[in-house]
Amino acid sequence: MRQLIAGNWKMNGLGADLVELETISRALAAKPSQHDVLVCPPATLISRAFAVAKGAVPIGAQDCHAQAKGAFTGDVSAEMLRDAGASTVIVGHSERRRYHHETSAEIAAKAEACWRAGLTAIICVGETEAEREAGDAARVCAQHVTGSVPRGAMSLNTAIAYEPVWAIGTGKTPTTKEIAEMHVHIRKELVGCLGEAGRAVRILYGGSVNPSNAKEILGIREVEGALIGGASLKARDFLAILSSAPAKR
Ligand code: PGA
Repeated sequence: MRQLIAGNWKMNGLGADLVELETISRALAAKPSQHDVLVCPPATLISRAFAVAKGAVPIGAQDCHAQAKGAFTGDVSAEMLRDAGASTVIVGHSERRRYHHETSAEIAAKAEACWRAGLTAIICVGETEAEREAGDAARVCAQHVTGSVPRGAMSLNTAIAYEPVWAIGTGKTPTTKEIAEMHVHIRKELVGCLGEAGRAVRILYGGSVNPSNAKEILGIREVEGALIGGASLKARDFLAILSSAPAKR
């Protein structure tokens, strides 16, 4: 299984910052990666990013509306993101669950909207610090998987990102054992929901992945890629993370 190394720029980036993407795409055009790579800039930059990436780096988006079109001021549909050049959409990120009160059912509808538009969905799951401390992490992640991953998910249209909320942007990460255990647990839930198809859906880890810890985290057998926030904003860091991913296994 190829690892997927995905950058999530969140609400960062103006046109001038596309030089970072240009550096990444030049590096990959010169020496193609053996891993799958994705960069998800804010919606305003998708079409420019697509032009800058020149096919060397697939471009993704960070959220979409569940409907294809209509009277939803300020929202963007999966069809529009595809039209702008996106191949993938991150849905159900904890920042959407938290600041926009998105429910798992809404996230499942967004994932289905991605498929309708011919896009891949990266569906995020993960517990808060309080939930982990209360011994509730496994239950919360299972609930996120069963509620947010629609039937019909398969490796071609879906990846899961396990992102413990307390590890996002904090510099804190779970131990390798904790990451491995949660990935095993999520796999079990995926197979429970999807049957055999659930075995091939990639499970990424996200939360404070950086050039110093990437080798260790991406070296965990159960980790099939990473979703990277802060460290994806600079080409140098992102490329360093990409080159620390282990060779195909
Ligand atoms: P971080 O964010 O790498 O800045 O912790 C990861 C994410 O939220 O996807």
